[in-house]
Amino acid sequence: MSKPNILLIGTGGVGTIVAYGIHYVGKSNLSVVVRRDYQKVSKDGWQIDSCDYGQIKGWKPDNIYPTVEAAAEAQPVFDYVIITTKNLPDVTKVEELAAPVITPEKTTVILMQNGFDIGRPFIAKYPKNVCISGVSHIGSHNHGGAIKQTQKDKSLISYFVNPNLSTEYQEAKTKEFISLYSNENNNCTYFADAKWYRYRKLVYNATLNTVAALTGVDTGRLDLSGGLAALSIPAMREVISVAKADGVELPEDVINSVVHSDDGDWFSPSMLVDVRKGNPIELEVILGNLLVVAKELGVVTPTLTILYELLKVVQYRLKEGKGYFTVPEKRPISDKFYK
Ligand SMILES: *[C@@H]1O[C@H](CO)[C@@H](O)[C@H](O)[C@H]1NC(C)=O
Ligand SMILES: *[C@@H]1O[C@H](CO)[C@@H](O)[C@H](O)[C@H]1NC(C)=O
Ligand SMILES: *[C@@H]1O[C@H](CO)[C@@H](O)[C@H](O)[C@H]1NC(C)=O
Repeated sequence: MSKPNILLIGTGGVGTIVAYGIHYVGKSNLSVVVRRDYQKVSKDGWQIDSCDYGQIKGWKPDNIYPTVEAAAEAQPVFDYVIITTKNLPDVTKVEELAAPVITPEKTTVILMQNGFDIGRPFIAKYPKNVCISGVSHIGSHNHGGAIKQTQKDKSLISYFVNPNLSTEYQEAKTKEFISLYSNENNNCTYFADAKWYRYRKLVYNATLNTVAALTGVDTGRLDLSGGLAALSIPAMREVISVAKADGVELPEDVINSVVHSDDGDWFSPSMLVDVRKGNPIELEVILGNLLVVAKELGVVTPTLTILYELLKVVQYRLKEGKGYFTVPEKRPISDKFYK
């Protein structure tokens, strides 16, 4: 039997370690799409300093492509496409980005990305393809082809339920993927319930991450200032209500354990780090998708809605700062009547 063809899109700190783990297992033909560092890594490979794999100099997978289109032209079918980019649907829709390399009814897509309900646009566009959920807890950074991994690769792998495919098939594909990725240096485990796990993460990400990003303080200062009690905790209760209406029962003590998860650290959540760097935030997949589900289920979410609308304004500022759009020099006159 020939080896399965895997393509990984998004070779940042996380993506490169995932790719290396697959290479290490050695049961597949591995290709990657590299955009920013293509010139450098296609010549010299990656320099990896990893707490899981040690020092690796000049590593290259089987194939390196500069674009998704180039990968699609070079190979007829990919069995697996792993997406490890940031998830910013208001900038790039990943289901469109990956379209050239997804063969309907064949390619299994793995979304190793943050966010909630991110399988939905894939299942809508590719109703006969399996869509796997990967939640990674890795700590790893890319400095122009030099990777420094400081926190072990631990991931929970499951699938986003696709009503058009049997449970057995989706489960088998998910376990097959794990067998191509799991090795003695990483900790990659099957976790049956992707939905539950992503709701559980939102109790933190939709409430502490968001308020920290808006106010510019870490979670310790958020607590001491009173913002935790006044904003984040009410928002957590709303996440729990949406989950409940969606058939997901979170643990009794979830708020308490989330609040205490950064104890002793002046911790800056990822969304705050992005704002500080002037990078767009993963607002739609962390809060936008949750509010869509809340609306469908008729759950009221006043705190989360305000946080979302405020962060949309922040996102506008960040995107303008990155040059995603420009406003006219002279402010356009609106003849809208306000009352
Ligand atoms: C997928 O499942 C949904 C819901 O059961 C159904 O409406 C849709 O027609 C199905 N699509 C395909 C291509 O089978
Ligand atoms: C791997 O992760 C699972 C799930 O979080 C955990 O239960 C297990 O103890 C971990 N194993 C190792 C060797 O760290
Ligand atoms: C979501 O929260 C987890 C901690 O639960 C964190 O590791 C992750 O970076 C957060 N993701 C985003 C996009 O903020």
